[in-house]
Amino acid sequence: MFFFTILAFSLAVSLVAAAPRPQVDDMPVLYPRDIARHRGCGNHITPARKAAFERKFQASRLPAVSENATATIDVYFHVVYANETIQGGYVPDSQIEAQVKVLNQDYNSTGVSWNLVNISRVQSEDWFLRVAADSPQEAGMKQLLRQGNSSTLNVYTVGLAEGDGKGLLGYATFPMDYTSKPWNDGVVILYSTLPGSSSPTFNLGRTLTHESGHWSGLYHTFQGGCSGEGDMIDDTPPEESAAYGCPAKRDTCPGGGPDPIQNFMDYTDDSCMTGFSKGQAKRIKAQLRTFRGVSI
Ligand SMILES: *[C@@H]1O[C@H](CO)[C@@H](O)[C@H](O)[C@H]1NC(C)=O
Ligand SMILES: *[C@@H]1O[C@H](CO)[C@@H](O)[C@H](O)[C@H]1NC(C)=O
Ligand SMILES: *[C@@H]1O[C@H](CO)[C@@H](O)[C@H](O)[C@H]1NC(C)=O
Ligand SMILES: *[C@@H]1O[C@H](CO)[C@@H](O)[C@H](O)[C@H]1NC(C)=O
Ligand SMILES: *[C@@H]1O[C@H](CO)[C@@H](O)[C@H](O)[C@H]1NC(C)=O
Ligand SMILES: [Zn+2]
Repeated sequence: MFFFTILAFSLAVSLVAAAPRPQVDDMPVLYPRDIARHRGCGNHITPARKAAFERKFQASRLPAVSENATATIDVYFHVVYANETIQGGYVPDSQIEAQVKVLNQDYNSTGVSWNLVNISRVQSEDWFLRVAADSPQEAGMKQLLRQGNSSTLNVYTVGLAEGDGKGLLGYATFPMDYTSKPWNDGVVILYSTLPGSSSPTFNLGRTLTHESGHWSGLYHTFQGGCSGEGDMIDDTPPEESAAYGCPAKRDTCPGGGPDPIQNFMDYTDDSCMTGFSKGQAKRIKAQLRTFRGVSI
């Protein structure tokens, strides 16, 4: 592994936020610094956009390579920091290595594993504080730092402290977004969600598990509420809305069965989450091979 540092930037960015936001997943909750954030990861995908996604998926879906195929995804971490303190986002390599371990444990049943290739470190207080979906900060950051191709996961750790990103735990692009904006592809997370960090209830690394679930083509378990096809997964019971904390026996949709509060794609606390379903694993593989060129 190689590590490097790029020194401070002050950027004149010409890109202006213009695109609509539905391709991202984010968590719009106010964040007084010393109060726990909710995993308020409001995936803004509209029913119309989801329907278009699903039509395209059904039309282009590639068959499985083999029943139990596995694949390894290359991962590049980009540590964007304001100053060389933890509060400034300067997280140690050990937390990133621990995070990749969590990813590998959490995805074990899916056949997907994750290989940390490189960690880059970039000082930019502006990006650290203000990166948000479709912001000029995001364009500057990702256009400089993104590595690899459609099958490469790029993770940016930032502060999500001001502007549209304030209060979020993270957000991600979907596989289908890759072709229209390759440089934008990836996952942005709050630096303090890494394992061993300071976010109360969100420091076991499950924020990246959740966001890379979106990056791999999953919706929230509560997508669409109680009616319709919801998250497009047969074995995750429908859920009327996001669950927070760890509400045992929550059951919000009549006849659907208990809510999947332990699923990585709900909003519960890190310690409440235990896994992906078989149906989600199948969709992850199908999305990765169809839209990311992964042989799985
Ligand atoms: C795939 O794994 C399942 C469960 O371990 C096993 O029953 C099945 O035989 C495997 N299929 C192939 C083609 O290896
Ligand atoms: C480092 O950056 C963080 C986030 O902007 C800030 O809260 C903190 O005061 C800074 N620390 C130093 C020593 O500059
Ligand atoms: C899942 O874990 C087992 C046991 O550690 C390991 O042999 C296997 O390669 C893992 N699978 C993936 C996809 O990481
Ligand atoms: C890691 O990133 C640095 C900076 O971009 C680069 O010099 C180095 O070649 C990279 N290593 C790999 C394995 O990509
Ligand atoms: C992406 O790059 C890797 C490493 O160079 C390569 O093995 C892989 O085939 C590429 N994937 C796609 C979809 O181009
Ligand atoms: Zn989400």
